[in-house]
Formats: sequence, C-alpha cells, structure tokens
Amino acid sequence: MTVRAVVKGVGHYLPERVVENSYFEKLLDTSDEWIRSRSGIERRHFAATDETTSKMATFAARAALDDAGLQPDDLDAIILATSTADFTFPSAATMVQAQLGMTGGFAFDIQAVCAGFVYALANANALILSGQAKRVLVIGAETFSSIMDWTDRSTCVLFGDGAGALVLEAQQGQGTTDDTGILATDLNSDGRYRDLLYVDGGVSTKSTGHLRMQGNQVFRHAVEKLASTAHTSLAKLGLGADDIDWIVPHQANIRIIQGTARKLGIGMDKVVVTVQDHGNTSAASIPLALSVARARGQIKSGDLIVTEAIGGGLAWGSVVLRW
Ligand code: UT7
Repeated sequence: MTVRAVVKGVGHYLPERVVENSYFEKLLDTSDEWIRSRSGIERRHFAATDETTSKMATFAARAALDDAGLQPDDLDAIILATSTADFTFPSAATMVQAQLGMTGGFAFDIQAVCAGFVYALANANALILSGQAKRVLVIGAETFSSIMDWTDRSTCVLFGDGAGALVLEAQQGQGTTDDTGILATDLNSDGRYRDLLYVDGGVSTKSTGHLRMQGNQVFRHAVEKLASTAHTSLAKLGLGADDIDWIVPHQANIRIIQGTARKLGIGMDKVVVTVQDHGNTSAASIPLALSVARARGQIKSGDLIVTEAIGGGLAWGSVVLRW
C-alpha cells in the first residue's frame, strides 16, 4: 500500500470587475486585435482596492472546503502560492487561516511566481507522503494588478487577479498509476534567467516595483521547458501522451499552450483553456483552470491530468495526478 495525496475538493474566486481588451485601447497604443491574436486574452478580472490576495484566497478556500464537505479545522496545513501577498509578513496563508477560523495546524506561503501552484502541490504532496499532514489546503492567489506598470503595453494587458484552491487528503493507494491522487512531480529553476521576468522592487530595495518582462524570450523558454517537464514527470510513471485525459497548463498565452500541446503530441480537445477569460493570473491560473474545468464538466473522476507552469526565476515544473 502507498499513501497518495488525493483531491477532495476544488473551488475558485474571481473579482467582480471584468475588464475587456477594449478598455486598454483608450489608455495605450494597443488594440483588442493585437492582444487577442498575440496572447489569446479577451478579458481579465481586476480586484477592488480592498480585495486583497488573502481575501480572494479565503473565498476560494471556502469553496474548495464546501466541495470537499470539510470544515477548516479538518485541515492540518495551508500552503498558499503567491508573489503578491497582502503584507511583507505575516504570510498570506496565516491570514487565510485566521479568516477561515482555523485554530490548529500550520500555514505558509510559497513564492515561485507563475510556477507557484505546481511548487505548492509538490510540497503538499511531500507533507502528506511523509506523514506530517493528512489534509492540506493548497491555494494559488494573486493580485498582479497591483504590480503592473500601466504605461507598459507589453505587460499590463496580459495579467489578471483571482484565486483557486484544492483540498488534498491522504488516502491509501495500490502504488500503481491507476491510483487516484498525485502520482509524480517535477520541479526546476534556473536563476540565471532572472532578467527575463522580474519585479524591479522589493523590501530590501525599498520600493514595491513593477513587473518587467522580455516576453518573447520567456515565450521561447516556455514551450520547450513546459513540454520537457511534462515528459519528465510522465516518464517517472512510464506513461506517455496517449495516457493523458487533460492537460491543465498555466494560462499565460494561448500560443504557448498550443505550442506545448503540439510538442507533447496532444490535441487541443484535451487541453483546458481559460486564458481568454482570466488573462495570466500567475500562481492562481492552474487552480482556477481546474475549478472552471470541473464546473464545465470537462474533468471527471479517474481522469489523468498533467499540470505544468513556468514563470519568473525562471522556475518551472509539472504534476501528474489522477482526479
Ligand atoms: O506567466 C509567466 C510567463 N509569461 C509568459 O509566458 C509570457 C510569454 N510571452 C508572451 O506571451 C508573448 O511574448 C507576448 C504576448 C508578451 C508578446 O507576444 P510576441 O509575439 O512575443 O510579441 P513581441 O514581444 O515580439 O512584440 C511584437 C511587437 C513589438 O513591436 P515591434 O518591435 O515589432 O515594432 C511590440 O512593441 O508588438 C509590440 N507590442 C504591442 N503592440 C500592441 C507589444 N505589446 C503590445 C501591445 N499592443 N499591447
């Protein structure tokens, strides 16, 4: 028998304010046509002033707990992937813990930018496999609208705000690839690529800063590294493209999503796409896509899912799980 981290519930939250591409036509030298054709994005949600990352994370967490039929005190741990926490400290995860009314266990943030949710899933899996936690709430939540340079058309049209969450629970499996739960993970980073995607400020530089990106360079790395990490985690299981029911990729750009699927030999009918409605929500994009796909009836019990993401660092990785 093998312990597996099994998905018990999923949920998400999106701010009420929806901003269509046409909004940017009034502010910048850009067009709906450019944004749509280069990125696949049509609209995104932006948080209200008082709608912080921890608040959105708490809404998503409640939805995931409801879906799982669990109470906050049933959890042993909360891991929140974010690069846009409310405060420098405490962690946004402990703020979610308090907002949920959870009085035990432990909570912490993970920062791996757009790869954050994949890193958080891998860490939650490790806590469960090592016996340190039985139920872990894994959240991705971001307020990237607060780090945009609204004069930079090459970045500010691409990002959005939101949150998504999964509840993972330790269950006994057979140790085969037919088990439900997380089956394999693969994490990577290479700090030499820092200048391709970063925020030019932070606590020790005494400013908040704005997101800076060499988009076409990141694009080049993205397709190659996402396909490679997906291959690596599938290879750990002796599985291949034919075994996959759904790819749930980081939602940054439809052309990256299509290019990666092509490289993996997977048809777009097996790829969950939400980028048109959410834009790039960094660490929130995968749990948001999982939750939306579940609500659409795309993902069903027993499906084999591959998630993959890349972002600032560069940091990238993938997780294979059976729903
Ligand atoms: O989530 C973390 C990882 N991030 C990503 O995965 C993002 C990866 N990169 C991308 O998604 C794409 O590179 C972008 C969508 C950012 C850009 O698409 P691209 O096809 O790589 O365009 P480009 O950066 O090569 O720019 C092409 C042209 C440039 O003009 P020139 O130099 O050819 O005259 C840009 O100035 O498009 C121009 N441009 C714009 N034009 C209208 C850049 N932004 C805009 C804009 N509206 N908003």
